[in-house]
Amino acid sequence: MSAKPKHVLVTGGGGYIGTTLTEMLLARGYEVTVLDRFFFGDTLADLKANPKLHLVREDNRWAPPAVLKGVDAVCDLAALSNDPSGELDPQKTLDINHAARARMCKMAKEHGVARYVLASSCSIYGFQDGFVDETSSINPLTTYAEANGLAERSNLPLASERFTVTALRQATVYGLSRRMRFDLAINGMTLSLFKQGGVKIMRDGTQWRPFVHVRDTCRAFITVLESDPAKVNGETFNVGSEDQNVQIGPLAERVSNAVGIPYKPDWYGDVDHRSYRVSFKKIGQRLGYRAEKQPEDGAREIFEALQKGTLTDGPTTNTLNWYKTLLQWNREMKEVAPHGIVL
Ligand SMILES: NC(=O)c1ccc[n+]([C@@H]2O[C@H](COP(=O)([O-])OP(=O)(O)OC[C@H]3O[C@@H](n4cnc5c(N)ncnc54)[C@H](O)[C@@H]3O)[C@@H](O)[C@H]2O)c1
Repeated sequence: MSAKPKHVLVTGGGGYIGTTLTEMLLARGYEVTVLDRFFFGDTLADLKANPKLHLVREDNRWAPPAVLKGVDAVCDLAALSNDPSGELDPQKTLDINHAARARMCKMAKEHGVARYVLASSCSIYGFQDGFVDETSSINPLTTYAEANGLAERSNLPLASERFTVTALRQATVYGLSRRMRFDLAINGMTLSLFKQGGVKIMRDGTQWRPFVHVRDTCRAFITVLESDPAKVNGETFNVGSEDQNVQIGPLAERVSNAVGIPYKPDWYGDVDHRSYRVSFKKIGQRLGYRAEKQPEDGAREIFEALQKGTLTDGPTTNTLNWYKTLLQWNREMKEVAPHGIVL
């Protein structure tokens, strides 16, 4: 088995994390095949000229084995990617986020792919007191979290001497990406500071959440791809950093300061006591991985792009609203275009 793969299939490679991972893999000389429905548009347009990039518009539920031709590693990111989107149609969330990723992993093993990395989430821990680590029990509170738990449970046992399987439980991601998401906490705070000059946070701001920069989480995928299989096979790693377990109130203040807007506390909702803090020691100790960026870096790069006009919030930048819009259009098209054409 080759220690370092050369050709990576990135499912969900058209997404917020996937577009950044694709760019970083190409920059390291990998050949990359992206399998994605491209729900959020032509998000890899600027990389298309790279002869090492291959795009396949396909659904992970029905992708044929041919997508694995020549591939020696899979990073499996395709999913409905947050709690509210996962509740739009819970059965479809289980189909896409669990069953299709179980199928992809099995298919990869059957077709001689050497490595498989599952994009999972720290939200799998639910809300718990104190610090949770990879040995803690999981407490999935939503269909999205449940599907991640099921995908881990079906895929990790496929690990064998010839097939290295790893699950990465990512903290909540922030930072600039080709497929921008403003429905993520730090990104949303930054947009609100840009548009309204302030940020509203849920009472009372003492809730703890873990965060990681998009380029740092992508480096974790690459670190795993390039690690000795003995260190990562059959393993689960939390991806983030100890010091980026942050309380929401102080986080809003840091984000405001980073973009040069004086912080004024502004609240909504009832007091939210739900917290969780995550230990990221394992990935550091076992793989020598360290997150390099801080929330301030993410906030500043987003704010600057908004100021320059190279980034705007549009219909696709809120994941839930965009899926709702697509579903609504689909219903209307069936009404107004019974023969598949509008005019
Ligand atoms: N962003 C975060 O904070 C975060 C945190 C933890 C885990 N994750 C996980 O990381 C992965 C990537 O998240 P993201 O933030 O890039 O989300 P995203 O929504 O931007 O990307 C998901 C991609 O998957 C594609 N997709 C959705 N359903 C598909 C299907 N059936 N077939 C093929 N493609 C499909 C979409 O078109 C999209 O490009 C997801 O599995 C998500 O659950 C994300």
